[in-house]
Amino acid sequence: MIVSMDAPFEIRIADDPASLAEIAAREVVNVARDAVAARRRFTVALAGGSTPRATYRRLAQPPFAAQMPWDHTLVFFGDERGVPPTHEESNYGMAHAALLAHVPIPPEHVFRIRGEDPDPDAVAADYARVLAEVLGVRHGEMPRLALILMGLGVDGHTASLFPGSPVLKETFRTVAAVHATAASVPQRFTLTYPVLNAAACVIYIVSGAEKAKVVKAALADPTTTLPAAMVRPSDGRLLWMLDRAAAAALPARRTP
Ligand code: 6PG
Repeated sequence: MIVSMDAPFEIRIADDPASLAEIAAREVVNVARDAVAARRRFTVALAGGSTPRATYRRLAQPPFAAQMPWDHTLVFFGDERGVPPTHEESNYGMAHAALLAHVPIPPEHVFRIRGEDPDPDAVAADYARVLAEVLGVRHGEMPRLALILMGLGVDGHTASLFPGSPVLKETFRTVAAVHATAASVPQRFTLTYPVLNAAACVIYIVSGAEKAKVVKAALADPTTTLPAAMVRPSDGRLLWMLDRAAAAALPARRTP
């Protein structure tokens, strides 16, 4: 595992996907426990896609499941597809099957995006309202999540922030409905940069050789405009957790 601190973000590299899930689950526990110690609650937005599944499953197992402050944990989602929660493409469905169904988190502490509802703009506005109400922010204030987990698409997208999308220019709304023509389910709902960059901690979890090229583009090219590279918390921590295959194209870094 290599730790690099010579950039505005941390990079940790695990040997393989199982080790990545292990160190990522451990880091989630650390952030959760620190958040509860400081603010008596832990607010987290979960990533979708397939990569985080291994981390969620690991988090539902000993010793992490017992170390997590579930009673003080509030779960949100970084993005969702326009499908019901039981659909195979549902990010909520993936997280529920891998984690939420197996841990003692109070059901009322899980706030899913109602992707199946007919009016996409109403879905986005309703989730923004829930986020603001539950986090207790006043009108116009930006909700600050303790942790946002994120993934990376091979085109450099993260959450449902795709290259060239108008939502990349959003500066006020915290949640947006987007139509991602390249995505498996084009109707998407996503947290926007204002709330992503207001987070206390953002952790990317990226695995696999197919991501090596885009990881290099996102992390080693200072001129990059890839959506994933634009997530830089203004007053928070940014940690990229990679397995060796995903990190393979990064320039060698000296460990401190
Ligand atoms: C989604 C995710 C998306 C994901 C990337 C990587 O809803 O699909 O939010 O941003 O993190 O597409 O997906 P994989 O982990 O499946 O490679």
